[in-house]
Amino acid sequence: MQIRWIQLLEFRNYRTLSYSPAPKLNILSGRNAQGKTNLLEGLAVLVTGRSFRTTRLADLPRWGAEAALVMGEIGRGEGTRTLRRAFRQIETGAWQPSGEQCEWARVIAFDWQDLAILNGAPAARRNFLDGFAGRLYASHIPGLLRYRKILARRAVLLQTGQADRLAPWDEQLAVVGVELLARRRAAAAALQTELARVFPALSGEAKKVEIRYRASLDVTEPAAFVAALERHRRAELRRGQTLVGPHRDDLLIELDGVDARVFGSRGQQRLLALALRLAEVLPVAEAAGTPPVLLLDDALSELDPHVQKNVLREIQTTEQVFLTTAEPEVPASDAARWEVKEGGLVAA
Ligand SMILES: Nc1ncnc2c1ncn2[C@@H]1O[C@H](COP(=O)(O)OP(=O)(O)OP(=O)(O)O)[C@@H](O)[C@H]1O
Ligand SMILES: [Mg+2]
Repeated sequence: MQIRWIQLLEFRNYRTLSYSPAPKLNILSGRNAQGKTNLLEGLAVLVTGRSFRTTRLADLPRWGAEAALVMGEIGRGEGTRTLRRAFRQIETGAWQPSGEQCEWARVIAFDWQDLAILNGAPAARRNFLDGFAGRLYASHIPGLLRYRKILARRAVLLQTGQADRLAPWDEQLAVVGVELLARRRAAAAALQTELARVFPALSGEAKKVEIRYRASLDVTEPAAFVAALERHRRAELRRGQTLVGPHRDDLLIELDGVDARVFGSRGQQRLLALALRLAEVLPVAEAAGTPPVLLLDDALSELDPHVQKNVLREIQTTEQVFLTTAEPEVPASDAARWEVKEGGLVAA
């Protein structure tokens, strides 16, 4: 898929911006704090209605503005779709989004926060895997939200000692939890296959990279899930929370048999994080029926020049890509270039 044009009004540091990107690689260069990341965020908001870096809608409108507007057109093959998204402040002071979803529209975004997939807590890896699974399976995020609601409900019952009322919630948690687990495992397997190709292509080294789903509760049937909850009942009542299930799981990422969290090089961790994002592309393209738009924020920094070249080669095999950089020279032959300057865009 491609973004044909986008218009931002009162979005972040953009008062007004109209931009018709190239169908392939777009390089957005500029000095710090000019609006490069904000523009990528605007592109993500256009396509999906959501930012990749915050869930706080109040951050999106330009400071002091009463509303922010993101409009544009996306297309795949012959089909096009005009999208219009607004964020308005309502009487309570809260910000409200409006705009509709497009069922085949996907973005994959990479930014420095992705380093947490490698060196952060298990929650960062679960979030990464859930985001990916959400791009593959329409039911994943609704299922995850449902699971979290049931967890919150169980926590109240456990904390107030109402063990006799747990049974129906255990049943529901087990059904939703087993489905969640199955989708996460399938997503991790798809990622593993692609990562085994992408990481050596980027690094230029034949290192073996492996990714494995680590379940706190290894079950495939709801009945086994319920039985596990019953086994942990006393401890759960003591701790006031659900102690087993997909909310306690992790993703093990290994390079030549060494856990990614313990190998030291920051460059290597950055490259692996980028490789994980690029490994999403093919499975997501298959699931959505069209390649996703790639939004790469400062993806080349801290990488060796030969690795940068490999990254540029790899991203030119997909459809539309946006790459921001604070460096003036990016060695890509076939790219459209813009300079981002003070909330504006000029052809470079
Ligand atoms: N809601 C907002 N309204 C107005 N300005 C904002 C808003 N949110 C962020 N900004 C400002 O927009 C400017 C550009 O931010 P952005 O993160 O896009 O910079 P950048 O070009 O990516 O810089 P860097 O190279 O440092 O990553 C910053 O000065 C930031 O403070
Ligand atoms: Mg930035």
